[in-house]
Amino acid sequence: MSADARAVNVTASLPVRRYDAVIVGAGGSGMRASLQLAEAGLSVAVLSKVFPTRSHTVAAQGGIGASLGNMSEDHWLWHMYDTIKGSDWLGDQDAIEYMCRQAPRVVYELEHFGMPFDRNADGTIYQRPFGGHSANFGEKPVQRACAAADRTGHAMLHTLYQRNVRARTQFFVEWMALDLIRNADGDVLGVVACEMETGEVWILQAKVTVLATGGAGRIFAASTNAFINTGDGLGMVARAGLPLEDMEFWQFHPTGVAGAGVLITEGVRGEGGILLNANGERFMERYAPNLKDLASRDVVSRSMDQEIKEGRGVGEHKDHLLLKLDHLGPEVIMKRLPSIREIAIKFANVDPIREPIPVVPTIHYQMGGIPTNIHGQVVAPRDGYHSTPVTGLYAVGECACVSVHGANRLGTNSLLDLLVFGHSAGGHIVAQNFPAQAHRDLPRDAGDLSRARLARLDGATSGESVPEIANTLRKTMQSHCGVFRNQELLAEGVTKVLEIEQRVAHTAIKDRSKVFNTARVEALELDNLIEVAKATVVSAEARRESRGAQARSDYPERNDADWLKHTLWYRDGNRLDYKPVNLKPISVDSFPPKTRTY
Ligand code: FUM
Repeated sequence: MSADARAVNVTASLPVRRYDAVIVGAGGSGMRASLQLAEAGLSVAVLSKVFPTRSHTVAAQGGIGASLGNMSEDHWLWHMYDTIKGSDWLGDQDAIEYMCRQAPRVVYELEHFGMPFDRNADGTIYQRPFGGHSANFGEKPVQRACAAADRTGHAMLHTLYQRNVRARTQFFVEWMALDLIRNADGDVLGVVACEMETGEVWILQAKVTVLATGGAGRIFAASTNAFINTGDGLGMVARAGLPLEDMEFWQFHPTGVAGAGVLITEGVRGEGGILLNANGERFMERYAPNLKDLASRDVVSRSMDQEIKEGRGVGEHKDHLLLKLDHLGPEVIMKRLPSIREIAIKFANVDPIREPIPVVPTIHYQMGGIPTNIHGQVVAPRDGYHSTPVTGLYAVGECACVSVHGANRLGTNSLLDLLVFGHSAGGHIVAQNFPAQAHRDLPRDAGDLSRARLARLDGATSGESVPEIANTLRKTMQSHCGVFRNQELLAEGVTKVLEIEQRVAHTAIKDRSKVFNTARVEALELDNLIEVAKATVVSAEARRESRGAQARSDYPERNDADWLKHTLWYRDGNRLDYKPVNLKPISVDSFPPKTRTY
């Protein structure tokens, strides 16, 4: 079939398939939710741009945070405190209590699903230390990360996939969701989606739609994220007129391989690895005398940036630092960190059994996302309330903001978030007995937005190259929204991103004869990347304080009086609104904001 024959006639009406639930994304949160729905007898379609076990969860390395207390005494309340402190008090304390209390249950459940965790001599799950996790409210480090060597996400994703196959979940592999379908009341009735191989476009009508599209780290040039992480769910939500929350907060992981961006797990430091500067100094002792290399990620990344800026970086350009682990010995490295050794050899040309790994802070995780409540329901301001659920729409995992990570996430809380809120969304959906309900009528304009987007792309005979614009966007975000920010840098960043937005509207797909549908997917992804980039830079420019991952050299202090609030960004006019942080937990006393030291 010729490429042109494969192009879809976007003026014809779209074919429809109907399900109780459509889940967009087959990572940890999407598959945790789909498992529950399929097991409860709902018809479930899970869409994924890649084969499910290649979703980005597969790249998570270090562990899942849960206060099992297998190595020494631990308590969910200590985990809760560490998470609130890690979030720089921007996390909602009800959601954080919920997550930390649920953690042991979801980990044991995964164990019973067959997850191959590492084991202690007594058969219990092995747990390692991780940044910012402590016993007794910051007194000393605690081993809380439940690990499967340094491939925890890989093991988790395969475990969930196999359970889903058993439960007869229907997977739509290499399908990309394009837009939400909303009726006149604003209820969500499914998605428009494209089969990537054929280019065919369908309406997938659903009684409930769950967005589980992961992060959008590909708005930056140097990222630990997979190339598929283009913020598709965020773009869909923004185009549907719903807000995005706290998008200024992006986590730099301290240890990406310098020059390559590939993740080197914090588990290396958990096992005893240390960071060194060009003088061979363990500099974290100066910045975080108590937890040192295991301070929370924003603190370690800023300290590394500072070392490099002050001329103590390593290498020809003095632009990175070293992660030393040879003192752990070959046995520990081969048993606990085998993939790290492989990554170091392949991407940095060093064998960490003998030499340190060159590392640099690298974009890793978005703390913000689609606003939800603890049931995974997407919430939006309506009638003066900030938290009215949007009927028929849920979001879980990294694309969602519930908000348990606030201004800075603790390592291991991402896999935990996927499991806890994938499960809670699943439970909430099952309780509504969707199989007994009829499908509601699709609006007459269902699919029009996607069709217009496709018609523009398919009709453009000349215009700018999509990859070139995407690269310009990534470079702009990297230089204007980095570890340290200031007004001038951010204001210029806003101007540049808005200029790039104009160019996005005038792209054309080059060379259709060879790569028509791949190039078309890239162009559709760019529509999502630009929304995420706008939300990020506009929200960051407006927040005049330093908190967690938002470090402003011109406003170096946290300012609770004016900024203890969540940002809401709307696509329409780049409008910003704010809503209060929930400092009230469900069943325990509040942890009031205080100075954050490690
Ligand atoms: O360092 C890591 O293994 C990453 C874990 C995480 O982001 O939670």
